[in-house]
Amino acid sequence: MERFVIRGGNKLNGKITISGAKNAALPIIAASVFAGEPCRIENVPEISDVRMMAKILRFIGAEVTMPEPGVMVVDSKNIQPDITIPDEMTRKLRASYYLLGVLLSKYGCASVALPGGCYFGVRPIDQHIKAFEALGASVNTDNAVVDVKCDELYGSSIYLDVVSVGATINAMLAAVKAKGLTVIENAAREPHIVDLANFLNSMGADVRGAGTEVIKIRGVSEMHGCTYSIIPDQIEAGTYMVAAAATGGDVVIDNVIPKHLESISNKLEDCGVTVIEGDESVRIISEGGRPRACRVKTSPHPGFPTDMQPQFATLLTICDGNSTVVEDVWDNRFKYIDQLRRMGASIIVNGDTALITGVESLHAAPVEADDLRAGAAMVIAGLIAKGETSIGNIKLIDRGYENIVEKLTAVGADISRVTFDED
Ligand code: EPZ
Repeated sequence: MERFVIRGGNKLNGKITISGAKNAALPIIAASVFAGEPCRIENVPEISDVRMMAKILRFIGAEVTMPEPGVMVVDSKNIQPDITIPDEMTRKLRASYYLLGVLLSKYGCASVALPGGCYFGVRPIDQHIKAFEALGASVNTDNAVVDVKCDELYGSSIYLDVVSVGATINAMLAAVKAKGLTVIENAAREPHIVDLANFLNSMGADVRGAGTEVIKIRGVSEMHGCTYSIIPDQIEAGTYMVAAAATGGDVVIDNVIPKHLESISNKLEDCGVTVIEGDESVRIISEGGRPRACRVKTSPHPGFPTDMQPQFATLLTICDGNSTVVEDVWDNRFKYIDQLRRMGASIIVNGDTALITGVESLHAAPVEADDLRAGAAMVIAGLIAKGETSIGNIKLIDRGYENIVEKLTAVGADISRVTFDED
């Protein structure tokens, strides 16, 4: 069993280079099936979620290779669409449900066991189903498997009742080959939605308006292979920005799109942290004592990302004053706070709000990663805390952070991956 062991208290200084975006890579790799021939995808992060998506594509007959670091080639000429993607795969990767939209659109059928993924409250897929049915598909969810079928898909208007990244993506995937015009309203606007649209258009699709709340898609009959490079990971970058601020360091986060980080940069500035934007970098300077307390509320892009909530709350535990964190996207994303309390954090949770009373510092303790971003928060807490913190369940962190030990060590963190025998 592996754990991270962190000896906290070091200021982070230097440069961290950001990898490709997990939440763009997953739908893009799935969508490469549309090509029916080789697609070369670059800047692919080497993380376990991407390896799992590749495994699922191979399971349905695609040939997936990694000819060089960060490059994936998917050849989907031999896809067998009538294979059910089983629970033992989908429970490991919630994003496997993107294959519903792709296979339905390309072959008229798909069968995927109900998805798993991080658990922070109910994670329904009613809006995905609404989109498929609006385009003319029949959907059956008996036996915990989502079966979608259609003779033909026809363009339609789809109003999403809730801003949903996954449902927006699945609606886009299902619509790219539907006959006629599809209009998706109340669409999610995340950077990874725009990246997927650009990838689909590189394969010959006609997707317009991605990044706004209205996406218009004209169905096409043929799509082809392409070469495409994935955008940098907004949440990986934000995580290291917060780590730099939390340790009182001075770090350049390189290979980013600063505009994608605006809500995070603004919140750090609210805390008195200096953020200097370059063309493809942000520099975080936090050498002036404890950060100021502030109020954070998560919301869909361009608001403050829910996937940054645990990490930012960890910074707020040592801020000077009382902060509030409101989680407005998920209905139960404060589970990690129990772990922070073990390290001396002073937090009261009341419904969707966490009330944080800043303390001078945290103290080391053995903790567990409850999910991917909660695990990232534990790493930040370990970097802050005096003493030796060990973190368990780190496979959850490896789902979304490429080379996290190497990247943090390079800027002065004392962190290592240690193997312990089971007992
Ligand atoms: C994506 O999950 C991300 N995962 C999540 O990041 C992220 O937290 C989330 O978007 C919000 O940004 C991937 O991209 C792989 P949603 P997704 O559909 O698509 C409700 C990470 O750490 N909803 O945008 O599953 C839902 O309950 C992961 O990288 C419905 O009600 O999230 C939630 O309250 C964790 N019905 C809200 O919408 C539906 O059919 C947003 O969920 C779908 C969603």
